[in-house]
Amino acid sequence: MKAIVYDTYGPPDVLRCDEIEKPIPTDDEVLVRVRAASVNPIDWHFMRGAPYVVRMMLGWRKPKVTRLGVDVAGEVEAVGRNVTEFEAGDEAFGSCRGAFAEYVCTAGSALVRKPGGVSFEQAAAVPVAACTVLQCLRDRARLQVGQQVLINGASGGVGTLAVQVAKAFGAEVTGVCSTRNVDMVGSLGADHVIDYAREDFTTGGRRYDVILDLVTNHSLSACRRVLNPGGTYLMIGGADYRLLSLVSVMIQSAALSWFTSQTLGLMLAKLSKQDFVAIAALMEAGKVTPVIDRRYALAEVPDAIRYLEEGHARGKVIITVE
Ligand SMILES: NC(=O)c1ccc[n+]([C@@H]2O[C@H](COP(=O)([O-])OP(=O)(O)OC[C@H]3O[C@@H](n4cnc5c(N)ncnc54)[C@H](OP(=O)(O)O)[C@@H]3O)[C@@H](O)[C@H]2O)c1
Repeated sequence: MKAIVYDTYGPPDVLRCDEIEKPIPTDDEVLVRVRAASVNPIDWHFMRGAPYVVRMMLGWRKPKVTRLGVDVAGEVEAVGRNVTEFEAGDEAFGSCRGAFAEYVCTAGSALVRKPGGVSFEQAAAVPVAACTVLQCLRDRARLQVGQQVLINGASGGVGTLAVQVAKAFGAEVTGVCSTRNVDMVGSLGADHVIDYAREDFTTGGRRYDVILDLVTNHSLSACRRVLNPGGTYLMIGGADYRLLSLVSVMIQSAALSWFTSQTLGLMLAKLSKQDFVAIAALMEAGKVTPVIDRRYALAEVPDAIRYLEEGHARGKVIITVE
């Protein structure tokens, strides 16, 4: 089978589309014929081994796991003997290591059934983004109906999902994006859209109960100014992820938390089957429809990652596997 492999850290040129052995599922695994995968910033962090902290998990000098791709959707081809939830022919989506391939093996507990009315591409668009958004809004911020939510970076892979999930939870949503994405973010249901080229959300008059920050281009104190008492600010992405910056934000948030009723923190999402089930239900109910920006073939994964690395995707970047 064909798969994207890499054996050294670096730019997208280190990726090769090679012929490798088709995997065999262990007792707890499912063999999936991949129909679609999606690209996340974590894929290029793994590819580059950057920031250096990721090498603590992946290997210091070269990657121990030589395959890329987390979000996957496809058809179940075979199941291990302990897997009771799936059988050959089922359509499923979820997470794995090595989604950029014709086949992948992953734990049965990392997959859920794909709703009938949802395409493989749409299902592949959501696993990482859905866990991030649900764990922020539902678990960390405990979002209530009618609350004010601001999403900084509303037009990207996570942001386009966050706008829709926050609306589905009954919030009043403000999305921040560039001029060319204002209409798109509005069409997803955002009640207010701020064009960051014209307006700085930290100096406007509106106040928020929850701020999801996917860009982290304002200081913590600037964000706190527009956060209501008792509100929650979560830094999700965009920062350089250098250990020192992360530690500095952690220290600042911990110190400030002593003096304020606001909750300030970093977010690191965990992949969760429960969240895959929750997002499947929202998609099936028509409350969430993943936004797909571009599609690439398997051999074009390096181009897909190059595009995502530019930082201006409009929704998700999908790999379709014939
Ligand atoms: N902590 C976690 O667990 C976790 C999980 C998932 C993702 N993340 C991180 O979250 C971030 C977003 O992920 P993603 O998948 O959504 O990335 P993405 O698809 O690459 O989207 C990036 C978006 O950022 C927007 N943007 C760039 N500059 C901006 C600015 N000044 N103000 C507002 N928006 C701006 C871009 O929109 P324009 O083209 O309109 O500028 C683009 O749509 C990444 O840093 C990722 O690493 C973290």
